[in-house]
Amino acid sequence: MRSKAQNSINLKPLIILFSFFLFLLVLKLGSNFSSNIQNLQSKYIDFTAPCHKIPPSLAEALVHYASTNITPQQTYQELQITLRVLEQKSPTNFLIFGLGYDSLMWSMLNYGGKTIFLEESDAWMQDVKKQIPSIEAFHVTYNTKVTEAVQLLHLGKEENCKVVTDPRSSKCHLAIKTFPDEVYNTEWDVIMIDAPTGYKAELPGRMTAIYTAGLLARNKRFGDTDIFVHDIDRWVENKFSMDFLCDGYWKEEVGRIRHFTIPSHRGGVERPFCP
Ligand SMILES: C[S@@+](CC[C@H](N)C(=O)[O-])C[C@H]1O[C@@H](n2cnc3c(N)ncnc32)[C@H](O)[C@@H]1O
Repeated sequence: MRSKAQNSINLKPLIILFSFFLFLLVLKLGSNFSSNIQNLQSKYIDFTAPCHKIPPSLAEALVHYASTNITPQQTYQELQITLRVLEQKSPTNFLIFGLGYDSLMWSMLNYGGKTIFLEESDAWMQDVKKQIPSIEAFHVTYNTKVTEAVQLLHLGKEENCKVVTDPRSSKCHLAIKTFPDEVYNTEWDVIMIDAPTGYKAELPGRMTAIYTAGLLARNKRFGDTDIFVHDIDRWVENKFSMDFLCDGYWKEEVGRIRHFTIPSHRGGVERPFCP
């Protein structure tokens, strides 16, 4: 008959072997668990993204629009096409003809970029600046009237108007030369034409604004410029945008807004004024 001591000696290698396999199993489960956690982390959590608070100016804009019953004139659908372009391009250089209830929105949608407004009414510009001190706007003058639109359209067909140059040195009657230098010295990536006023015969109309915006875009050293023209249901906005921003550069239109994408006409590529 075997003693108790002999029995326990025979079991020892088995216990050691079992412990070894148990150790390997724990090791394997542990490594699977941590690699699963890593997979989940890389799938759902971007640990490299910095954690930001909403910028104070953006918070101010939200409160501004949430507490006013005066909304911008462009409709939700009209705003979408500029929004889509700004989503891709911002922060960018964004030039806007006209100050309005949409100005703070445009500045915020181009957060971190350069957004400049050109306004014909000094009184209105002071009002807006009082409400939104961060707005960067210049008072500008236009020396045209809506009544001159047909004559200006003919003048715009002259060869001088097809020459791509800085508007300050253009010989075209439609080129505005009196804007602040910053307007000519900046390469604009997005331009919104929602001014000057043109709803009455004696108002300036957008003839020269449309032509000059197109010239700034063509004269850019590199890249495309997205130009938006609002109020295309009116004769001036419709005709001047199609003739000087060109059918060939037409991208889309929604409601009363039309979108053109104009390439640089510099950088060695020979291009006609309109494709
Ligand atoms: C068609 S509005 C632009 C409106 C702008 N898109 C908006 O949503 O408010 C163009 C011009 O109208 C004039 N304007 C617009 N709102 C005004 C106001 N409340 N008082 C005085 N002028 C205004 C400004 O001269 C402005 O540049």
